[in-house]
Amino acid sequence: MKLTPELEKAFNAQITLEFEASMVYRQLAIEMEIHDLPGMAAWLRHQADEEIVHANKFIDHLADRGNHPKIASISGPTVTINTPLDAFTAAAKHEERVSEAIRELYRQTEAAGDLDSRPLLNWFLSEQIEEEATVNEIVARIAMTNDDGPGLLRLDEELGTRPTSTTEAN
Ligand code: FEO
Repeated sequence: MKLTPELEKAFNAQITLEFEASMVYRQLAIEMEIHDLPGMAAWLRHQADEEIVHANKFIDHLADRGNHPKIASISGPTVTINTPLDAFTAAAKHEERVSEAIRELYRQTEAAGDLDSRPLLNWFLSEQIEEEATVNEIVARIAMTNDDGPGLLRLDEELGTRPTSTTEAN
């Protein structure tokens, strides 16, 4: 069943937000590369790829239902990063924004009685819990190092071993 025009608009806004999230992560990866932390940069770059997978899930859903997926204009990410803690805190904040957008999408589809979008949105609700938990854990662990060089380098090495199998793009 086709989504209503209002829901199509809301889903398209979510597609744009997922691409925006990808650009935020990609920029954060660049910042960590500049800070000579290649493991963190690799982790963030994987995450940028995963956000494109998220956008594609929404695009496929709209297309499957006979709607018209459309990406809106996206402004470049405006992140000011001086430390790894800044980078992952910015990631956590963006994830909170995405989570709230998914909840709002859920509320709108429920109000419209759009049962067909439930499985997809349930998947995203779970995914957001996981993504927020993962990023918040990294934020906490960076804070624990208290700017201690060896501690940061150990964490950087560990994050650089993120298996590619955890990136759904693979
Ligand atoms: Fe697509 Fe990280 O949320």
